Amino acid sequence: MIDNLNKAYESFKEEISDLAVMPDVLNLKSTYLGKKGKISEILKSLKDATPEQRKEIGPVANKIKNDIQDIIAKKLSEIELKEINEKLAKNKIDITYTDSLKASNQKHGGLHPRTLIRQEIEDIFLSMGFEVLDGPHIETEYYNFEALNIPGDHPARDMQDTFWFKDEKSEEGNKHLLRTHTSTIQVRGMQSRKPPFRFIAPGTVFRCERTDASHEMVFQQLEGMMVGKDISVANLIYFMRQTLKEIFKKDVKVRLRPGYFPFVEPGFELDIECQVCKGKGCSVCKQVGWVELLPCGMVHPNVLRAGGIDPDEYNGFAFGLGLDRLVMMKYGIEDIRHLQSGDLRFNSQFKEY
Ligand code: PHE
Repeated sequence: MIDNLNKAYESFKEEISDLAVMPDVLNLKSTYLGKKGKISEILKSLKDATPEQRKEIGPVANKIKNDIQDIIAKKLSEIELKEINEKLAKNKIDITYTDSLKASNQKHGGLHPRTLIRQEIEDIFLSMGFEVLDGPHIETEYYNFEALNIPGDHPARDMQDTFWFKDEKSEEGNKHLLRTHTSTIQVRGMQSRKPPFRFIAPGTVFRCERTDASHEMVFQQLEGMMVGKDISVANLIYFMRQTLKEIFKKDVKVRLRPGYFPFVEPGFELDIECQVCKGKGCSVCKQVGWVELLPCGMVHPNVLRAGGIDPDEYNGFAFGLGLDRLVMMKYGIEDIRHLQSGDLRFNSQFKEY
């Protein structure tokens, strides 16, 4: 019997060496190892053997079965690998970016300068432990005004010419508008967190006003807020200076003036020297040599309350960076309307991807 087993093993090895596709190998497997396969047939006569013979045949039969299984597994993986390699060779695509694009002579796009600056500022604030938040463009009167300490009859509402929606049915406070500033995210952000926290919120804002070299109807701001215990004006000034230094990669001349915003007390206007004319006076800075860039201040207690925060325990600062002005200062652009123009001659001057 051992002889027969060895013979069967030898003929198996011979047969398998000629095979090249998976189904043939699987067939061969069942020819030898299947229930009615050659090996099983040989082992059927085991029942007539003496116990001593069985002891001798058993291990040999097992070894041969295992060897056959190993050889089959090896063969199958060889075939699989070969098939994959053949497929790869057939379907070869040149995925190298430059070669395929250059070949078709395509130009690739770039990021808008405002996006470039926004990403840069986000990175600066992320590295100082700030979160980046988002908020809706269509807002309620409540988040745009009331929650920010600007009640219906407050004269400060005139400071922001507003695009209102015609939803006559909604009650006072719930009327809808296009947000006039990103300060809407102050109260939204406070409501969903517990102090201490710090976040920024960049986004588009809308004002119904006449456009000129330094005013647009649609522009971008970047709101910032930090709330905690014992936060001071000194903290505010430190963060603002640090940010401007990182953006301009140099010390720019700044000045701080008192500024009035109902949602901060005290409030400031942080101006920087006009980088378009280097302080000499031009259409961007309205001939004064300075540009209002960073209104800011200590958060008013009423605003903290609207955000669900106890003003006796916590305080904080907030600022609203004008992103378009910043782009103009950084790149020396003399008219804000270029930013929104969609003119490729303008857009393509900035960094490509
Ligand atoms: N929201 C104000 C504006 O749009 C700017 C501002 C933000 C002022 C935060 C103070 C604090 O003019």
